[in-house]
Amino acid sequence: MSSAVAGRPPVPSAPPAAVLCGLGGWLPPRLVTNDDLAERLDTDDTWIRTRTGIGSRHTIEPGQATSDLAVEAGRRALDSSGDSSGDSSVDAVVVATTTPDRTCPATAPLVAARLGLAGAAAFDVAAVCTGFVYGLATAAGLIAAGTARRVLVTGADTYSTIVDPADRANAIIFGDGAGAVVLRAGHPDEPGALGPFDLGSDGAHEDMIMVAAGGSRSRPEPGRTSRADLHFAMRGKEVYRNAVTRMAESARTVLDRAGWKPADVDLFAPHQANLRILHSVADDLELPRERCLTHLRSVGNTGAASIPLALADTAARTPVEPGSRLLLTAFGGGLTWGSCVLTWPALSAPVPPPYQGEDTTP
Ligand code: UT7
Repeated sequence: MSSAVAGRPPVPSAPPAAVLCGLGGWLPPRLVTNDDLAERLDTDDTWIRTRTGIGSRHTIEPGQATSDLAVEAGRRALDSSGDSSGDSSVDAVVVATTTPDRTCPATAPLVAARLGLAGAAAFDVAAVCTGFVYGLATAAGLIAAGTARRVLVTGADTYSTIVDPADRANAIIFGDGAGAVVLRAGHPDEPGALGPFDLGSDGAHEDMIMVAAGGSRSRPEPGRTSRADLHFAMRGKEVYRNAVTRMAESARTVLDRAGWKPADVDLFAPHQANLRILHSVADDLELPRERCLTHLRSVGNTGAASIPLALADTAARTPVEPGSRLLLTAFGGGLTWGSCVLTWPALSAPVPPPYQGEDTTP
């Protein structure tokens, strides 16, 4: 006799887990070293390396845009999932970005169309450097609800389009790039399964990281809008302090939810903001620094792309045992922050390094 016949509602089965099954990254070929920056800015390689840990970054050429990077990263993620084409392979495309191709429309539908995925749901997520973690959470929700079975989540940013090249404080930090993952419906015990999430925000501090003009609050007006208002501005020291505190708090929250201890974490993939920030968070969590991914040394802070790019770089260079435990945590403008845990996936095809040319690790 079924429970419905007995007058009880049927017991709902557990929703599917989101399982990472594809991974890829892409960096534009143009490499900008610290010495290149020192030729035109009052800075030097030692200052940049000591304060940030960054040795070089990649930037797009004039005429390129965020979608160009997102398409390359997305294609590689689809390839590594063994499913490179066919509009039935992906039900939704999410692009996390602070630098969309245009104010309107979103960048994701164009990325989907260029990947042969026209017809899939496609939208952008705007949570600045936390965007990729927000994008993962959104995709996991679509999968858990049964709205999608496969989702392409891309973090893509071209900060070179919003940072004033004459602003030495910010020009040294940011680089352009894109990273992407494919998530599919699966079981929580499979390698690649995403665990619990923690997401948060505090808009009272929106002015800590901001591009003041260009949105509905302040449309750019020729002759009236200042150069500074058109460019990215950041109160570096406050951001630094908040990033350390929020990332550590959020990481602890998600570890508690997952029932993991910091010592259980095999790989720590924080948003690649500043090497000192990453080490402070790792120290705060009592995680050995060697477990912390430090891709920023060669690519700088690539915004929403930084976590998936660091994962793609790791997958291309280092064998990681499927099932190894990963902790992701991010902090960015908004303010926003977020974390999630997952296990390392069993990918069906190798992940190529996210560089077009030579290895650029300084
Ligand atoms: O996704 C979140 C993204 N944001 C971040 O992760 C940024 C977080 N903040 C930081 O990483 C650091 O605050 C910065 C790297 C941005 C700056 O480092 P800092 O140690 O906080 O330096 P500061 O801003 O306090 O500046 C110290 C000095 C200043 O000179 P004075 O006033 O002491 O004479 C700056 O003018 O360093 C000077 N300075 C530079 N010198 C050489 C600032 N930028 C540079 C530079 N080269 N590029």
